[in-house]
Amino acid sequence: GIDERVEAILQKLTLEEKVGQMTQVTLDVLTKGPNVFASDEPLVLDPQQLDIAFAKYKVGSVLNTANNRARTVDVWNEIIGQIQQKAIQETGIPIIYGIDAIHGVTYTAGATFFPQQIGIAATWDTAFARKGSEITAYETRASAIPWNFSPLLDVARDPRWPRMWETYGEDVYLVAKMGEASIKGYEGPDNDLSSPKAVASTIKHFPAYGAERSGKDRTPTWFSEVQFREYFLDGYKVAIQAGAHSIMINSGVINGLPVHANPRLLTKLLREELGFKGVIVTDWADIENIHNRDKAASSHKEAVKLAINAGIDMSMVPYNFNFCDHLIALVKEGEVSMARIDDAVRRILRLKVELGLFEKPMPAKTDYPEFASAQAQQEAFNAAAESITLLKNKDNFLPLKPGNKLLVTGPNAHSMRTLNGGWSYSWQGEKVYEFSSAYHTIYDAIRLENGEANTTYVAGVSYKDDGDWYEEHQIDIDAAVTAAQGVDAVILCLGENSYTESVGNFNDLYISENQEKLALALIATGKPIVLVLNEGRPRLIRRFEAGMQAVIQAYLPGNYGGDALSAILFGQINPSGKLPYSYPKYPNALITYDYKPSEVQTVMDGVYNYQNSVEFQYPFGHGLSYTEFVYSSLTLDRKTIAPDEDFTVNVTVTNTGGRAGKEVVQLYTSDEYATITPDNKRLRGFEKIELQPGESRQVIFKLNGKDLSFVDYELHRITEEGKFIVTIGDESQTINVTKTKIFDTYNRIF
Ligand code: IFM
Repeated sequence: GIDERVEAILQKLTLEEKVGQMTQVTLDVLTKGPNVFASDEPLVLDPQQLDIAFAKYKVGSVLNTANNRARTVDVWNEIIGQIQQKAIQETGIPIIYGIDAIHGVTYTAGATFFPQQIGIAATWDTAFARKGSEITAYETRASAIPWNFSPLLDVARDPRWPRMWETYGEDVYLVAKMGEASIKGYEGPDNDLSSPKAVASTIKHFPAYGAERSGKDRTPTWFSEVQFREYFLDGYKVAIQAGAHSIMINSGVINGLPVHANPRLLTKLLREELGFKGVIVTDWADIENIHNRDKAASSHKEAVKLAINAGIDMSMVPYNFNFCDHLIALVKEGEVSMARIDDAVRRILRLKVELGLFEKPMPAKTDYPEFASAQAQQEAFNAAAESITLLKNKDNFLPLKPGNKLLVTGPNAHSMRTLNGGWSYSWQGEKVYEFSSAYHTIYDAIRLENGEANTTYVAGVSYKDDGDWYEEHQIDIDAAVTAAQGVDAVILCLGENSYTESVGNFNDLYISENQEKLALALIATGKPIVLVLNEGRPRLIRRFEAGMQAVIQAYLPGNYGGDALSAILFGQINPSGKLPYSYPKYPNALITYDYKPSEVQTVMDGVYNYQNSVEFQYPFGHGLSYTEFVYSSLTLDRKTIAPDEDFTVNVTVTNTGGRAGKEVVQLYTSDEYATITPDNKRLRGFEKIELQPGESRQVIFKLNGKDLSFVDYELHRITEEGKFIVTIGDESQTINVTKTKIFDTYNRIF
C-alpha cells in the first residue's frame, strides 16, 4: 500500500535529505543571468545553482515560472525536465513543481484563460468553477506542473482588500460551493492524482486572509472567534472535505500572532478539528517574515522553530534565512522533534507518490492532444459571458443595434492586461498585451461586430490610482469629448489596471480621479453612455453613475472577455451574471449584505431616532437580464419544524419577457430574533435556470433546520427556536422552529 511505500522511502532518508524535502525554491535561483522576473531572455539553467539546490540542499520542490515571456508547452517540459532530472540524480526523489495557474495556465503560450475567480463566482453556476479548473488542470499538467496554488477560499468582505478578485466574493456559502466544485475540477471526482488530467489543488490562504482591519494586504487582522467561525471558516472546511491535497497559509497576523507561527490554527484547528491530512506549505518567505517583518521571533532560527513546531510542512522561498541549516541544527538540539520532521516529510512524499511522480516524473506529450482546444476556449468564453453582470439598463437602452456610431473610450477599452488581471503571464499581469494578437480587447471585439467605420477609439485617460507604480499620467479628455460629438452612444470602459497583493493597496476606493473626469466630461456631451467596469473590486462610481444610461460589470473576464462583452452589448447573449459582493456607494458604508440590525438603524428612545442609511450602489446578488423573471407561489412543505428536521421550499419562476434567459434563483433566510444579533439575511441556496419566453419552472430547495444555525457566544453551532423568514426574489414565507438545538461545540482557538 501507499503507506508502506512512503515509509520505505522515508526510512532511507538522512536528516539533511528530509529537510531538503521540506524546502521549496523559486525558479529564479536556478537560472543563469538576469532574474527571471525581469528578463525576456531565453531561460538557461545554471549548473552551479542546480548543484547547490540538489546536491547540497537536496531540495524537494520548485515553484514559479518566468515572467515577461509566454513560453510554450515544449519550453516548460524542457526546462522542468532538466530540473527534474538533476533532482532525481542527486536525491533519488522527484521534485514537486508548484505554480499559480489561478485562471488558466497563464505561463504557457496559447493556453486557455478563464475569468478570474470573482467572475466565476458571478456566474453563480458551480459548473463553471468545475469546468474551468478541469481545463486548467489539464493544461497545467501538460505544461509539466502537477501542483496548482489554487483555489482561494478566502472570503472578501471588504473591497479595500486588493485580492478580492482572486476570491469567490463576500459570502461564505457561495465561496464554499464554488471552492468545492473547483477542487473537484482540479483533482477529479475521486481526487485521483495519478490521472494525467489532475493536479494537486491548494486551499489558500488558511485562514481568513483578507480580513485585515485596514483593508490593506498583509496588515493585522483582529477577530472574535464567533466572527471567524461564522463568516470565514466554512469554505476551507468544505474544501478540506472535498479532498484538496495541500493548503497554503495566510501571510498575515491574526490577533497579534503571525499565522505561520500559530500552532492553535495550524495544528489544533487545521489538523485536529478539521482533519486536514495534506501538505501545509508557507506563503512566500513567510517564515523569514516572522522575524523580519512581524518581529515575533528574535532570530531566523527562532522563526524556523516556531513555524515547524506550529505545523508547517514545507517552506516556500527559504534561502534568505538558511532554513535548511537552522532546521537541521534545531533537530540536533532537540528543539524540533524528529517525529515532527517525519510527519512533514511523510505528507510530502505521499503527495509525490499519489501524483505518480516516481513512475512518471514528467508528462507524456501524447497525453495532451486537447491542449487549448477550441472546446476549451469556448468554455472560457461561456464562463465570461455568464459572469458579465448588467447592473443598470435605463429605458432598456441595451442591447445596442449594430450600425450605430459608437465611441469606445477609457483606459480599459483596448487592453488585454485589464481583461485578465494579475497572475497572467506575470505576477502583476504586466505583459499580457504582448500576446493579444490572437484575442480581442473590448474595442477590437466591438469593432468586429459594429464595423470599422462606425467605431471610434480614443484612450481618454490612464488610471493613475494612488500608489500606482506603472502608469504615466496621460490625459486626452478633449479628444474623447470631440470624438463623442459625432456618435450615437459612448462605450466608456473604466476600472483598474492589473495588480495583486500589496501592489493594490490603494488609499482611495473611489475610481481614480482621471477616470472620473473623463466620465463627467462625457456626460456633459449629452450622449448616452454605457459604462463598462473592468475591475478587480468595486471602485466607487457614485459621483457619475446617475449620468450613465447603462452599467455593466465585466470583472476580470480573461482572454475571451472582450468577445463576451460585445456579444452582450449587441444582444447575441442575454446577460445572466449576478454580483458576488455588495457594490458600495459610499466609502464609509462598506458593509456586506448580511449586515446586523444596528448597521441600518439605531433606535434611541422613540423621540431621538438616528438612522444609519445603508445604501448600496448595487446589492449583493443583483444582475439584470434582457428579459423579465417573475417569482410566484413560494411555498414551504411545513410551517413548523424541529431544529434538525428537513423542509422543502418551492417557488415558481416565469420568464414573462420576450426572449430566452438565465436566472439565478437565490434563497435567503432571516432569523427574527436571536441571542446573537441576527443577520439581515443569509444565502442558503441558489440555482441557475434557463427559461424560454413564457416558460415557468418550479424550483425546489431542500433545507434542514441546521441550515438556520449560527455560531453563538459559547461557540455552539446552534439553531434557536423561533420564527425565520424564507425569501426568494420578492416572495417570502415564515417557518417556526419548535425548540433550540446545539449541533456542535467548538474548541476555542483564539
Ligand atoms: O500562491 C501565491 C500566493 O497566493 C501569494 N504569494 C506567492 C504565492 C506563490 O506564488
